[in-house]
Amino acid sequence: MNSKAELSGRTIVLAVTGGVAAYKSAELARLLIKEGARVRVVMTEAAAHFIGAATFQAITGEPVWSDLWDARMPNGMAHIDLTRDAQLLLIAPATADCIAKLVQGRADDLLSTLCLARDATCALMVAPAMNRQMWEHPATARNMNTLRGDGAIVVGPAAGEQACGEVGLGRMVEPAELLDAVLAHFTPKTMAGRRVLITAGPTAEAIDPVRVVTNLSSGRMGYALACAAARAGAEVTLISGPTGLAKPFGVERVDVSSALSMHEAVLSRYAACDVFIAVAAVADYRPAAPSERKIKKSADKLSIDMVRNPDILADVAARADAPFCVGFAAESHDLDTYAQGKRAAKKLPLVVGNLVADGLGGEDNAVVLYDAEGRHPLVRAPKPVIARAILEHISRLLKD
Ligand code: PMT
Repeated sequence: MNSKAELSGRTIVLAVTGGVAAYKSAELARLLIKEGARVRVVMTEAAAHFIGAATFQAITGEPVWSDLWDARMPNGMAHIDLTRDAQLLLIAPATADCIAKLVQGRADDLLSTLCLARDATCALMVAPAMNRQMWEHPATARNMNTLRGDGAIVVGPAAGEQACGEVGLGRMVEPAELLDAVLAHFTPKTMAGRRVLITAGPTAEAIDPVRVVTNLSSGRMGYALACAAARAGAEVTLISGPTGLAKPFGVERVDVSSALSMHEAVLSRYAACDVFIAVAAVADYRPAAPSERKIKKSADKLSIDMVRNPDILADVAARADAPFCVGFAAESHDLDTYAQGKRAAKKLPLVVGNLVADGLGGEDNAVVLYDAEGRHPLVRAPKPVIARAILEHISRLLKD
């Protein structure tokens, strides 16, 4: 869920320590570079048992650093200079031993020395990875508390099956999620303290146990907004219809299927939110009486009686305790007329209008924002870019 070159102009030191997850750090390096970052890799001696320096050198196009006494830096001070022009030192995976060393402030190899010599302009992010017993050990728990207290950003670990065959907490967070955490770190916190509720995707209205009425919404626009809001510091709940998309990092997702279940999920949560953004393409009608059994082929024609679904956005916007409500309007023609009509009818401070041909299903969108000041067009761009611009607009309106 990223747009190109978000990390453009940033330098990240990626430190790899000796855990099985070291092989995933190669993918992480690739993802960071794809987003425009310059990545300089530091490996501990133990890391070299799991992955070769040549891999990182090929991916980053930079020499790999592992020796405290490496004289390749012009002044021979790799242990200081490597982080001087970096904005982030990311240790992934970080072993229990590496974390213990950080806590003790030791400086007996290149990585520990770099951590100690790092200045305030270079943040430290740590992705722990270890056996679940090591993670649960009181010594590690103490160390993690100290590390957090010292200002490190800790991402993970995740739960699941471990290389040793045991199951539990201790897996390194996946590279794509670590990338999300890095992007979140660099995103200005314009939505800090805000609680945002978002609907996304299509709904599926049952005809019988195996058939539904649905639409072509992919969920991308709503997920991009959820992701951008979380990165901007908001507490985000995403009520999602059926999509194949992964849950954005740092977002609470509630899966629903029908318009009725989406309606119920929203109504039980809207009061705890400051902003409600209705992106979902909700079915306006549902089969009146879904069959409990699979409908068999019989006559040449089949008619299904449909009844109106509740309008979720209209219901929330009409409440006395309504949050700041943002609607979407997907139109096949006359966008201005219909979108402005929906804004007026539902008394919304903001409506985001898009033509179906521009927004439905694809990776990009072109939208027009309609508010009390008039219309504000946004040129066609990837949905994450459009999502950021919409959120900036919302946070400006919230301040007014
Ligand atoms: O999911 P993607 O493939 O990324 O596509 C994105 C999108 C095209 C679905 C999205 O950008 C969009 O336009 N969403 C709104 C689609 C829509 O159903 O519009 P509408 O004009 O029918 O509804 C108007 C507003 O009322 C919307 O905010 C909708 O979420 C809301 N609504 C509609 C009906 C209903 N029963 N309940 C609702 O809350």
